[in-house]
Formats: sequence, C-alpha cells, structure tokens
Amino acid sequence: MELNKNLSKVKPSGIRKLFDLAQNRKDIISFGIGEPDFITPDHVREAAKQAIDDGYTRYTPNAGFRDLREALAQKLREENNIPVKAEEVIVTAGGTQALFSAFYALLNPGEEIIVPDPGFLVYGSQILLAGGNPVFLPLREENDFQIDIDELKRLITPKTKAILINSPSNPTGMLIKEEVLREIANIALENNLMVISDELYEDILFDGRKHISIASFPDMKEKTISIFGFSKSYAMTGWRLAYFALPENLISEMIKIQQNTAVCPNSVTQRAALYGLLHKEETKLVIEDMRRAYQKRRDILVKGLNEIEGIRCLAPEGAFYAFPNITAIGKSSEELSMHLLDQCGVVTVPGTAFGEYGEGYLRFSFATSAELIEKGVAKIKEGLAKL
Ligand SMILES: Cc1ncc(COP(=O)(O)O)c(C=O)c1O
Repeated sequence: MELNKNLSKVKPSGIRKLFDLAQNRKDIISFGIGEPDFITPDHVREAAKQAIDDGYTRYTPNAGFRDLREALAQKLREENNIPVKAEEVIVTAGGTQALFSAFYALLNPGEEIIVPDPGFLVYGSQILLAGGNPVFLPLREENDFQIDIDELKRLITPKTKAILINSPSNPTGMLIKEEVLREIANIALENNLMVISDELYEDILFDGRKHISIASFPDMKEKTISIFGFSKSYAMTGWRLAYFALPENLISEMIKIQQNTAVCPNSVTQRAALYGLLHKEETKLVIEDMRRAYQKRRDILVKGLNEIEGIRCLAPEGAFYAFPNITAIGKSSEELSMHLLDQCGVVTVPGTAFGEYGEGYLRFSFATSAELIEKGVAKIKEGLAKL
C-alpha cells in the first residue's frame, strides 16, 4: 500500500544515528544532546505533585487552562512587549507541536516557507509533512550567521507564505540583531508574509544581551506566530509544554488543529508551569542560575576549542550551542564527527544535520558540566593531534 508521499520526503534524523552508535559505548562524553542537564526547578516539580493530588487528571480546554493563558499573556505583555490578550495565547504540547500546527495552518500544497540553514532540523521535515516546501536561507559565518536581507528578498516567490526565524539560534548560538529583525519585519509587511518566530531559547542569553520579540514591532503582532516554551527556560523537555502568541484570525483555526490532534496539553504540566509563572521571583532566580552556568561553560568550551589547531569558534550569544568551523582539519563534518566518536569517545553533531550550509561545522551542546567540557576538549585535542 502506498503511504503518504510526504513521509518519504523526510529523512531520518542525522542526530539519532550518531546517538544510537554512541549508546553502545562506555566512557562517552557527549556534546550531542540539545536539552538542559538541569532538573526542573523544585517548586515547579512540587506543584506538579500537588496537581495530581488535587485531581488535575482530566482533559483541559483545547487551548489550555484559562488561568495559565492569562498568566502567559501577562508575561508576553510585560517581558516580550507583545500586546496580547489571554484569548490570543494557545498552550501546546511542546514547541515541536506548536511549529507543526503553525505550518499546517498556513500551508497549501506546494506553498513555501523560508527557513534558516543551518537551522533546527525539524523545520524542513515538518514543512514537508504539512505538504509545503522549505526554502533554505543560508546563514554564513562571515556574516556572524545573520540573515542576509538581500538574499532573503531574492528567495521570496508568489508561493512564499512565511519566513521562519529563530533567535537565539539552534545550532549557531547567535541572536538576530535588532536592525536585521526590523528589516525582516518590513519585508513581511511589504510582501504580506507571516513570520514564524521560534523563541524557545529567549531566556538563555549571554553577556547582558536582551531578547527582542519581532511581534513587539509596530503592526507585527497580526503578522507573527510567536512560539515560546518551557523546555529550555524551565528545563522541562520531558513535560511537553509550549505556547503561541497568535494573530486574531488564526486562533479558532489553531484550536481546531489542537482539538483534532493533541486535544490539549498535559493537565499536570500546565498546573506546574502556572505555579512557576505565578512564583516569578523564585523561578527567575533558578533561570538565572542556569543561565550563568551555561555562560561559564560556553567560556570554557569556546576557549578550549579555539586553542585546538584547525578549529575556529565564534562565541555564542545565547542558547547552549557552539558551532565551530572545522574546515581546516580537512574532513567533512560527518567524517570528523564519526572520527571524534570512534577515536576520542566524544559525541558531536555534524553541521550537515542542520542543513547543507552546516557543512564545515560541528555543533557542540554545552548543556553539560564544566568538568566534562574540559575533559571532552582535551580528548579532542589529543585525538586530532594523531590525525
Ligand atoms: C530551536 C528549537 N525550537 C523548538 C524546539 C522544540 O522544543 P520542544 O518541542 O521540546 O518544546 C527545539 C528543541 O530542541 C529547538 O532547538
């Protein structure tokens, strides 16, 4: 029987392959996994236990609990300067589900969404699954992995529906500069395009940088699907919780998608996240502790990598990823990644897992201890010296 043709367009994840190989080995140091190594804050975990005891075991409204949507709208107004009401916020079962719902809501067969390359690998696959075509916009190291506005303009066709942006970025760790964000906003307004803004890493910023949401710019709220989450900010990857701020005309349509797929996000998870939001001071302290730890680890990793011959690494401005250039070593990203696993017991992700323009780079996640980062870098140095 022939299955959905869109499925055959999607390649298995390049990251999984490597992790499967690494699983069979002991003494592995992993820079592979893109999730916080911290446990969810104590008070949020306690709130989840309480929610179970309080009987939060049933379906919730499709868009999420009303009090949670109100707390999220308040957070979006106060911290992101996005002028939303609670009705314009929909809670989802994680950022990945939110992204898929956004693509599904926007795309007719063959329509296009412009996505960054290198970028979070799910974007391209999900657009294909939703029946559309991803159009890849190169991010180049010589341009600090920023979006080149002229190149972006050239990729717009009559089929373009939206531009996806991700700041701070997985995998480059870079932020989109404010002036670039403003130009993207102008392009969206001039060409009647939507912007899908993936802001999952908004809380992990280094050296005093501030997060800017494109939906806070004039007229952009009605043009932007903004996606935020708890996975990275609250170290809640396994709990599956994220949320959108949506233009008014998309709300009822998104609720239809939610109703017919997830039904609702997990009830206990929603109560726990709400407790975290309402106990903002306590939560902010934990988020700041994690942020500071990531920054320290970034410094150790970037310094260590730049001391290795053949590796050149820009300092990430946010998220927990470094994306060093390895072209001088003379191996492809995949070859080098396999070599580091085989010879040094170190897991990295080849840049090509994030798109064609990731060739020549490896992604290092520094959501791991400073001690392991130092050990891992030493092993890489030793292993490369033998090449
Ligand atoms: C850029 C980016 N967006 C979205 C997600 C999805 O996060 P989740 O589905 O865990 O909320 C991730 C996860 O790694 C990510 O890196």
